[in-house]
Amino acid sequence: MTARGTALLVLVAGLAGPAAGAGTDGAALYVRHCARCHTTAGSGLPEGHPLLSNFRNPPADFTDPMFNSREPASDWRLVVAHGGTALGLSDQMPAHRERLTPAEIDAVVAHLGTFADTRGYPRGELNFTRPVRSIKAFPETELLFLQRRDRRDDDGDVVRSTLYHARRISPRWQLEAKLSQRSEPGLREVDEAELGAKWAVRTGDDRLLLAAGLDAEIPLRDDGDLVLVPYLSQATPLGGHFSLQGTLRLHLPPGTPADGDLELSQVVHWKPGARPRGIVPGLEATLVAPFDAEARWRLTLIPQVHAALSKRGHVALNLGLEFPVHGRRPGERHRLHAFVLWDMADGGFWQGW
Ligand code: HEC
Repeated sequence: MTARGTALLVLVAGLAGPAAGAGTDGAALYVRHCARCHTTAGSGLPEGHPLLSNFRNPPADFTDPMFNSREPASDWRLVVAHGGTALGLSDQMPAHRERLTPAEIDAVVAHLGTFADTRGYPRGELNFTRPVRSIKAFPETELLFLQRRDRRDDDGDVVRSTLYHARRISPRWQLEAKLSQRSEPGLREVDEAELGAKWAVRTGDDRLLLAAGLDAEIPLRDDGDLVLVPYLSQATPLGGHFSLQGTLRLHLPPGTPADGDLELSQVVHWKPGARPRGIVPGLEATLVAPFDAEARWRLTLIPQVHAALSKRGHVALNLGLEFPVHGRRPGERHRLHAFVLWDMADGGFWQGW
């Protein structure tokens, strides 16, 4: 028999037969059920391995700390229980729900976490749903198209359309760039660019992720003002299916500091199911306190809904409605927010559906 044939036989033989006596010792379960494809070290199959050519997608490399830290355990429990197709991965990653109990699946997934030293990497558990207003603390590689529409009493709507790209350049750092266009009756111009950097300050555990960042809003019109936006963002699980995220930011126009303000936003999301695909409702509140003591402070509420469309949840549509509760401006009605998001770290746009 050829090496390839033998390898295949080993593969198939390994897939049959229930587990016996491994208990909930994650390491032992891993050796018994996973190691023949993922290797004992968790590194995936090395180049030139006879089994490699049997796989359309090579088994994942759990020793890569970026990969290992990025995925929440809930996603991996899903893949181990229901197989790769649960997340739109290859069906060559077999389902184990007939062979392993839920406790054994928890144990083996916990063991996957030991293959890489992920200290200093933000935990995938704290990568929550992207809110409308608050800035996510988790460093991402993603592309978004955002639109917001200001409904006014008589003057016609003002629409701002934005193309946004963020790129995670190291365990803790993310860079981002935006280009945005304003359109209203009789006017349409690309009038603003934005550059920003974000750094995950505190990453150590599954309870709190804290990030600090600085954005520069750069006017592309002659009469526009540069605005610097330093901020702090937090992400915290609230227990059950709830999460809390928020941002404290300053808007600082260096030319006219008195025109600046302080903005605090907080958002609660409820993620009903374990699968990434699905609907996640949220409620966000935003408080804006202008530095100018004469100006009115503002409080707005933004009920919102996030529809993760792909099985991996990496392509999503988000809708929100922002209405002022205090400090309504003359003629102002409400603001509609919408964005389409593609989390590029989780695969191509058309992968994983
Ligand atoms: C028959 C071979 C095989 C066995 C046995 C196997 N896997 Fe896999 N596994 C794969 C392949 C192939 C992939 C890659 C799928 C893809 O990327 O499309 C994969 C992917 C995964 C992923 C998904 C990583 C990601 O991309 O998010 C996890 C988690 C995983 N395996 C865990 C396990 C665990 C735990 C076990 C044992 C209980 C196990 N696998 C057993 C072949 C296998």
